Amino acid sequence: MKKQRIQQVLATDKKAKPQTDQLEFGRVFTDHMFIMDYSSESGWHDARIVPYEPLTIDPAAMIFHYGQSVFEGLKAYITPTGEAQLFRPEKNMERLNRSNDRLCIPRIDESFAIEAIKQLVSIDKEWIPTSEGTSLYIRPFIISTEPYLGVAPSNHYKFIVILSPVGAYYKEGINPVKIAVENKFVRAVKGGTGEAKTGGNYAAGLMAQELVANKGFAQVLWLDGVEKKYIEEVGSMNVFFKINGEVITPALNGSILEGVTRNSVIQLLKSWNVPVTERKISMEEIYDAHKQGSLEEAFGSGTAAVISPIGQLTWDEQDLVINEGKTGKTAKRVYDTLTAIQYGKEEDPFNWISKI
Ligand code: COI
Repeated sequence: MKKQRIQQVLATDKKAKPQTDQLEFGRVFTDHMFIMDYSSESGWHDARIVPYEPLTIDPAAMIFHYGQSVFEGLKAYITPTGEAQLFRPEKNMERLNRSNDRLCIPRIDESFAIEAIKQLVSIDKEWIPTSEGTSLYIRPFIISTEPYLGVAPSNHYKFIVILSPVGAYYKEGINPVKIAVENKFVRAVKGGTGEAKTGGNYAAGLMAQELVANKGFAQVLWLDGVEKKYIEEVGSMNVFFKINGEVITPALNGSILEGVTRNSVIQLLKSWNVPVTERKISMEEIYDAHKQGSLEEAFGSGTAAVISPIGQLTWDEQDLVINEGKTGKTAKRVYDTLTAIQYGKEEDPFNWISKI
């Protein structure tokens, strides 16, 4: 792919920035966005950074009808010396291309996309919040834009990157969340789109989430789509369980999202010589471990959620309170170390940081 230049048209009217100590997740957007178009004749072209504004899209555009789209989520942080940095952006761009392959969307040039993200973040650098637990969430996404009602891969796409200063994903912040184990609905099956980051996976999960939301559950824990026995993931994060000193996370099986934070947690635990295993794990095993008192901790990991301790799992009306509903030592140590690296407060022995 030939490298292109990124045109810049800067906003003349700048928006007021939010109070950073009251930030929610994903409600406020910065002054600029990145856009690049694709056509089957010209490939990816016309890369530009422009003022953030609504798009004009044909009502017949295929995205509205058949959902051919993919997205990513990564974050920019400000270090104590005021520099902006990204966490493992190459992993997100690799996954974006894997999602593209699955959704029949043309691949992007990963290093060019990272360059575009860096240019965009440096233009909107003042939007990176600095209050405890806040960051600038980066949402790259691709939508199919060809006006056509036939079911086929689109010939036209837009790759867009928007930025949102964010606080914690859950209203609980970094405190433990309550999660309901989902026994009726399923999120994905092997051979489906579960391991791709595509909007349809999230739309399919909404009903289960809505049904438990008013009972105080932050989200549902998905079980495998065939036997509804083995643990897969939570709506917006991968999951880890600590049983008898060993940390276990469901192995990637084709229907689980391959989380960048998941991978980082595994590397961190290995570097501390904490036993960590990727394998099939059933809800029954968790239940038994809880009964025997050997389920020490549970926590989720994700870019938006960071590390989110799970204080209670509810399965078939049975409440499994984990670690007395408190944040466990492992979850805390992972959270502290990961965020210290992300915010440039601690050395980065893994080479995860990409300076802007
Ligand atoms: C992320 O963690 O970045 C995600 O994409 C999860 C989500 C908010 C859908």
